[in-house]
Amino acid sequence: MLIWLWQFVRPYRLRLVIAIIALVLTAALTLSLGQGIKLMIDEGFSDQSTSGLAHALSWVGIIIVAMSVGAYFRFYMVSWLGERVIADIRKKLYSHLVSLPPSFFEDNLAGEIQSRVTTDTTLLQTVIGSSFSFALRNALTFVGGLTLMFISNVKLTLIVLLVVPFIVFPLIYFGRKVKKLSRDSQDKIATVGAWAGESLQHIKVVQAFTREALVNEQFGRAAESAFEVALKRIRQRALLIALVMMMVMGAVAGMLFVGGSDVIAGELSAGDLAAFVFYAIMVAGSLAAVTEVYGEVQRAAGAAERIRELMATQSGIQSPSISTAKTTSAEQQTAPLIEFNHVTYTYPSRPDTHAIARLNLAINAGESIALVGPSGAGKSTLFELLLRFRDPQHGELKILGKSLPDWDLEQLRSQFALVPQQPVLFSANVWDNLKYGRPDATEAEVIAAAKAAHADEFIAQLPHGYQSFLGEQGVKLSGGQKQRLAIARAILRDPKILLLDEATSALDAQSEHYVQQALNTLMAGRTTLVIAHRLATVRHVDRIAVFDHGQLVDVGSHEELIHSSELYKRLSDLQFSNENMEELGTI
Ligand SMILES: Nc1ncnc2c1ncn2[C@@H]1O[C@H](COP(=O)(O)OP(=O)(O)OP(=O)(O)O)[C@@H](O)[C@H]1O
Ligand SMILES: [Mg+2]
Repeated sequence: MLIWLWQFVRPYRLRLVIAIIALVLTAALTLSLGQGIKLMIDEGFSDQSTSGLAHALSWVGIIIVAMSVGAYFRFYMVSWLGERVIADIRKKLYSHLVSLPPSFFEDNLAGEIQSRVTTDTTLLQTVIGSSFSFALRNALTFVGGLTLMFISNVKLTLIVLLVVPFIVFPLIYFGRKVKKLSRDSQDKIATVGAWAGESLQHIKVVQAFTREALVNEQFGRAAESAFEVALKRIRQRALLIALVMMMVMGAVAGMLFVGGSDVIAGELSAGDLAAFVFYAIMVAGSLAAVTEVYGEVQRAAGAAERIRELMATQSGIQSPSISTAKTTSAEQQTAPLIEFNHVTYTYPSRPDTHAIARLNLAINAGESIALVGPSGAGKSTLFELLLRFRDPQHGELKILGKSLPDWDLEQLRSQFALVPQQPVLFSANVWDNLKYGRPDATEAEVIAAAKAAHADEFIAQLPHGYQSFLGEQGVKLSGGQKQRLAIARAILRDPKILLLDEATSALDAQSEHYVQQALNTLMAGRTTLVIAHRLATVRHVDRIAVFDHGQLVDVGSHEELIHSSELYKRLSDLQFSNENMEELGTI
């Protein structure tokens, strides 16, 4: 863990050095108090001299002031280091997470990952920012105190040392156990957090189905099992602390008996014994402190392991390390804008069904194409392949004649604007949500985009207009309003390729009509891929591609497909007859 941590501490070496100097200094000064005590007893009490006592105490006074100054620097520097290093680790962890492909977040609970970013780093922080310096200081006190003990009285020191093996071995044994238990306990806590996060986020569904009791019970079970694991760890540590305390205090008592007899026999001065006892107590205290912190360091090691694991997760989807510009610009001119060559994609969790199977399709610049087909046909998956959220297992996907893995990811994705099937808004105001499409857009551009998406009217009616806060995931808006904001965002981005995944599904007939007009302007002269269930909304596109079970079954215009494609005809018959019935119903 230390080797791993060092990469984060290294930039702040200078502070670390100052902290260590302050640490060594305060430890040395603390020990030198022993000499002050010896002076006080031998010069002051034994000689019954007030001036001797004053002299001894003035030394003690100087030591105390120096110690306090040292303590200030030690505390400040060490805490600074802890906070700084953890902030760096958090930042690095987060930026790593953001770079991971969406599939990673499908296989790992968001709450669990969050817990690594927050709880685990906090645990690590206490260790770097306090426990570690505490342990180091006590270790120094231990070594220094022991040396002074040897110098002042070898016989008494040996008595004290007899117990050391009895302390060190249990320490190592229990330490290992605590580390394992601590990892378990962190894992459990992460699960508890993930649970709570998910059910609170979807509180409406929980309450609508009156499942409060169920989530309570599930959460309760998770919390209890976290407690049980913690309890095991606490038992181990309590046992360890008690054992060490008994050994240490027993040794001190034995030493006091032997030393006391020597003072009575006149072989040792009272001041020497007092100083020795002071050292012994310091040594014992520091050993106890180290054992206590040792458990904590083990916990932090568990946390560090989890953080390290997460940082080590490699994304299979990355920009090429060296730009592999295989295509010339002449080739780019002639190549279709988007090209699917025999593309097959299978979700790893569904190995026996192809979400996209052997797809061949070329889309020219400026063309608009609709993707239709039954639910689960693979339409949204196709968008994810285009955005390179996933890489196909077979075949090749080209944009502007360049294979996707040869594109710089950022450049590739900046060709697109996506209006997803479920509109996504962030907990911010309308401005910020729209500007997400293009952060450098001017005020006028944002408003124009909102107008084009027919969002301007309802935004004006919000309590603070464009400044209105939309709540987490835009909960303060209706489904159709959210959708219009998502469209406005895409309009603002002004991309080369527009991806609309049921962009108008949540709109009423009238807004749909308006938004459709806005989309038509947006689509004019722009390559557009539209997924739509309602076939009426895609009649005007250049081509319609019909998908079924991951296969492209037919391509053509509405008129052509009505005659040539059985599936398309069935879909359209169903819809148009339903609509006619609806119309009849309203008459
Ligand atoms: N993350 C995923 N992991 C595993 N399987 C998935 C995942 N996402 C989608 N699928 C499966 O892949 C198939 C295609 O899904 P896709 O979302 O592309 O369908 P779709 O055509 O967009 O459907 P809809 O019209 O209902 O949105 C479905 O069978 C679906 O269950
Ligand atoms: Mg879909």
